[in-house]
Amino acid sequence: MKLAVSGKGGSGKTTISGTLARLLARQGHQVLAIDGDPNPNLAIALGIGGDRGRDLAALPRDLMVDQVDEEGVKTRVLSESAGTITARYGVVAPDNVTLLVGTKVDHAGAG
Ligand SMILES: Nc1ncnc2c1ncn2[C@@H]1O[C@H](COP(=O)(O)OP(=O)(O)OP(=O)(O)O)[C@@H](O)[C@H]1O
Ligand SMILES: [Mg+2]
Repeated sequence: MKLAVSGKGGSGKTTISGTLARLLARQGHQVLAIDGDPNPNLAIALGIGGDRGRDLAALPRDLMVDQVDEEGVKTRVLSESAGTITARYGVVAPDNVTLLVGTKVDHAGAG
């Protein structure tokens, strides 16, 4: 089962995502949570606090590569399997939810 949570700012997306993920993991389901917010804080909702949560690295951008098929149609695909990416970059939270941080803004740009 794949679940995506989106909606208005401050409406409780992170809270409901973290709670659902933890409840499902406690019931024995294998849960992979992916934080797609450029200001990620799903780690906190999953129970990864303090420096560990703050210092989580986001997935490198070069995991996505362009692939061109024989008809010249270009698509973006993962350069490695989802399993390999999860094993390499996943962080296991207290209730056994594995977290991937999709993107992160480290500092504001000029402009
Ligand atoms: N059911 C609820 N009842 C009361 N407060 C809640 C509830 N769910 C979330 N909150 C509180 O509302 C605030 C916003 O929640 P949350 O961070 O989960 O929203 P969000 O949609 O992820 O926000 P953002 O768009 O900034 O990422 C938090 O302070 C959270 O503790
Ligand atoms: Mg949020």
